[in-house]
Amino acid sequence: MYLEKDDERVLAGEFGETRQKMMEILVALGEVYGAEKLVPIASAQVSGASYKTIGRWGLAWLRSLDARAAVPAVLNPIGMPREGWQEFGIAEEFAARQAEVVEAYRRLGIKLECTCTPYYLRMTEYGEHLAWSESSAVAYANSVLGARTNREGGPSALAAAIIGKTPYYGLHIVENRRPQVVVEVESGAGLHADHWGAIGYLAGKKVGNRIPIFEGIRPGRDNLKALGAAMAASGAVALFHVEKITPEARVFEFSTGDLDRVTVSGDEIEALFAEKEVEAVAVGCPHCSADELREIAELLRGKTTTKPFYIFVARGVAAENADLVAAIEKSGARVIPDTCMVVSPRMDEFSSIMVDSGKAFAYVPGMCGALARIGTRRECVEVATS
Ligand code: F3S
Repeated sequence: MYLEKDDERVLAGEFGETRQKMMEILVALGEVYGAEKLVPIASAQVSGASYKTIGRWGLAWLRSLDARAAVPAVLNPIGMPREGWQEFGIAEEFAARQAEVVEAYRRLGIKLECTCTPYYLRMTEYGEHLAWSESSAVAYANSVLGARTNREGGPSALAAAIIGKTPYYGLHIVENRRPQVVVEVESGAGLHADHWGAIGYLAGKKVGNRIPIFEGIRPGRDNLKALGAAMAASGAVALFHVEKITPEARVFEFSTGDLDRVTVSGDEIEALFAEKEVEAVAVGCPHCSADELREIAELLRGKTTTKPFYIFVARGVAAENADLVAAIEKSGARVIPDTCMVVSPRMDEFSSIMVDSGKAFAYVPGMCGALARIGTRRECVEVATS
């Protein structure tokens, strides 16, 4: 892989051991994937932030590093809200370790936004190269914003943040962003306007790691977020297109008749929505937008929760919408920043959790050891208040 002179000096250790290690990670990755060069990035988003997922070895590695991010870089959700973790039911020992992880990232110059929706907080432009690692954020950046990022691991995103570059391969190259499979969503009995998480969950299982293009659907921005997050979890989708909606859907010349085709049927969606008793309800995977907070506040108006109901959100979005947060919490529901239903150990205490997200539906059983039920946001509110 071609390296500029300064990059060679970094690799030779002239700018310290941490930068050298980070460059070694990028070079190794670039060589595995046949990258011809490194490309400068506009921002990084770094996963591996919850002590629940990285444990003591991850913490020890982070503490051994000594450098600063060269580009704007934000942290993925951690295992607890940074303030008020006691009320959220986090054990003191976990909180102490999690605080050490946060401090290690702070020293490395990673902004402590602790969110999987960094695009609500910082403008990301069409065509920008990024190194983001949270799979739903990657799907959103590539598909909805038209930016270019591979699905980075935590260490490679951190390396890219510190070096300010990433290997130029995969989805950084326009030709690799072509649609590969058509997804047809059958309209009909089972299909409800709020079923995007379920559609994504089913589509992801069918398309695997191919780049899908959807026909005949009209999702809004938050719907696209739900769709992509679910496909990234049940499949390995890092980029998808929606005819007439997403920015790159028109960039490529092709005929949908020449591509493989899969169908998501109303019956499949219906079957996914099987009713089960649940102990808790959680929404905000990926973290809620202001519009979603508004919708939840509206659905909760005049109601009182009968079981724990958590709404996960970026701290910055919660702060900008304090009136909506107050309206939601009046019902007994709790708006929790910095963390989520998958990466927080708090959720491991429930044996069954209802979610409105295809991604959470895919991850809750494995990551929290709980049965998962999926419903629309409206159904989640109904279950949380009945
Ligand atoms: Fe975000 Fe956690 Fe879901 S990181 S995408 S809320 S699993």
